[in-house]
Amino acid sequence: MIYSMANAQSEKYADLLQNIGASKKVSLNGQWEIIVDPLENGFYSHRYTEKPNGYFKNDKMEEPSDLIEYDFDSDWQLMVPGDWNTQKEKLYYYEGTVWYKKNFDFKKGNNEVNYLYFEAINYEAIVYLNGEKLGTHLGGYTPFQFDVTDKLKSGENLVVVKVDNKRRREAIPTINTDWWNYGGITRSVHVISTPKTHISDYFIQLAKGSTNTIDGWVAVKNGKDGQTVTVEIPDLKKSIKATLKNGIAKFSFKAKLSLWSPKNPKLYDVNLNITSDKVVDQIGFRKIETSGSKILLNGEEIFLKGISIHEEAPFKTGRVVSIEECRILLKWAKELGCNFIRLAHYPHSEAMVREAEKMGFLIWSEIPVYWTVLFDNQDTYANAANQLTEMISRDKNRAAVVLWSVANETPEGTPRLTFLTKLASHARGLDNTRLITAALDTQGFRDGAKLIEDPLGEVVDVIGINNYCGWYSMKPEDCGGIRWASDFNKPMIMSEVGGGALQGLHGEINERWTEEYQADVYKNNIEMMRNIDFLAGASPWILMDFRSARRHLRRIQGDFNRKGLISEQGMKKQAFFVLRDYYLNENK
Ligand code: GCU
Repeated sequence: MIYSMANAQSEKYADLLQNIGASKKVSLNGQWEIIVDPLENGFYSHRYTEKPNGYFKNDKMEEPSDLIEYDFDSDWQLMVPGDWNTQKEKLYYYEGTVWYKKNFDFKKGNNEVNYLYFEAINYEAIVYLNGEKLGTHLGGYTPFQFDVTDKLKSGENLVVVKVDNKRRREAIPTINTDWWNYGGITRSVHVISTPKTHISDYFIQLAKGSTNTIDGWVAVKNGKDGQTVTVEIPDLKKSIKATLKNGIAKFSFKAKLSLWSPKNPKLYDVNLNITSDKVVDQIGFRKIETSGSKILLNGEEIFLKGISIHEEAPFKTGRVVSIEECRILLKWAKELGCNFIRLAHYPHSEAMVREAEKMGFLIWSEIPVYWTVLFDNQDTYANAANQLTEMISRDKNRAAVVLWSVANETPEGTPRLTFLTKLASHARGLDNTRLITAALDTQGFRDGAKLIEDPLGEVVDVIGINNYCGWYSMKPEDCGGIRWASDFNKPMIMSEVGGGALQGLHGEINERWTEEYQADVYKNNIEMMRNIDFLAGASPWILMDFRSARRHLRRIQGDFNRKGLISEQGMKKQAFFVLRDYYLNENK
């Protein structure tokens, strides 16, 4: 376990290898055999106790009289990574258990440690290797790994995963979300091999408030106290030595840096060396802070010209599974004139975050504490805190990530405030170099102005506001005149604003669902935003139409939330150009 630098020995990071993209690994992506098991018959006996010889055994008939009532190898198959809902018509609405099985050959190296690494599985995953349970993971959008060195064999191996995406009231997210509950092994699976003594984690960023002091630590598994860790940044002709103590080597050194920014998304090769292992990562360095109602990047005020994005794949729909799909979404955001993206409402893939960083997007990353979760439930809190830990652990070296969001549209109340205040301090305990935020949807009124007074405003560094003037309330033409006030001398981001339209549907400006209506909503809300002097950015809802089980107007929505500026088939709507003009022409 590694404790944070911020306030030492208080918060622990998740056990997650860094930069797995560059590690020595065997991919387990591809076709997996599956069994759809709505009654969890492969797990529970008729006495509802865990079966000792469940489907994870992958039992096979040996005698003609044997009774084995399942057989992965003559059952259905699914692609990994991928959700099951868009791969099989019969699983479109399916929520429950699906067993995944894969046989794979593996050649074990000498003196190596092997990890079974899952980039994400929605929602509950129980993982077995060669008939042995490795463990369980909750949460559909963050990675987890198991050290399988003692369980992995040279030759044929069997991995079985019980995946269950049943929605639960006490879960994170809870039972109702405005996005489709895509189930499955939705991101890549790897067997990663490292030397026995290896670099297991690191955190290398600018010291809080600095633009020339790099602070960091490197964690070494199976290392010895006194062992040397070398940190090199060839572009800077920097090579410093740090000494291992209790598995951690800490360092701090001055450097004259080309700071990362949307205009200059400079990433440095950073080489971490110990005698038996070497890890190379591409890391940017930037300072992010607030000053009153301003957001400062590298000491300069910046306006976050953003857009919200769901991890819905363009064209084929379903969960994004490839870097190409990430690039399409990011290219559209670039065309829109954005320097900022809100990845909603859960951590998106590492590939998306790294690609966005290369393209110069500042990033808002969020855990799915969404709407009315059970704020007074300890397990719910532990689950949320764990997802927050995994999100920060995975992306703590990404300069582009500047905002950790702990919640979206949660109802005011004491249990909620306690819950989110604890989460915010947990985040600060893990990483004090970034800003904490949340998207609020409750406002008051004072002197005719909409008033931001939610007590959570006191806890966060940046206040996100979701407001649908002209769609869920009021008429578009009434929005431009709205005034805003805030009880907090903090930056506000209009984290959601917008309206729906069916691409290609045209009509009068006051006709719902037409592109003209949506464009008018944007025009008037942009007018409103121009008059908010503590506005530091916006991420309108949303870049592309996305699937949601809450959207039943079949002739318009057809299971899609139509607030995209682009249809899921890549067709831009009029409002796309309204927002683009605002971002490109207003020297915000
Ligand atoms: C909410 C919510 C989104 C949702 C949007 C909408 O603000 O945060 O997840 O999709 O409104 O209603 O379209």
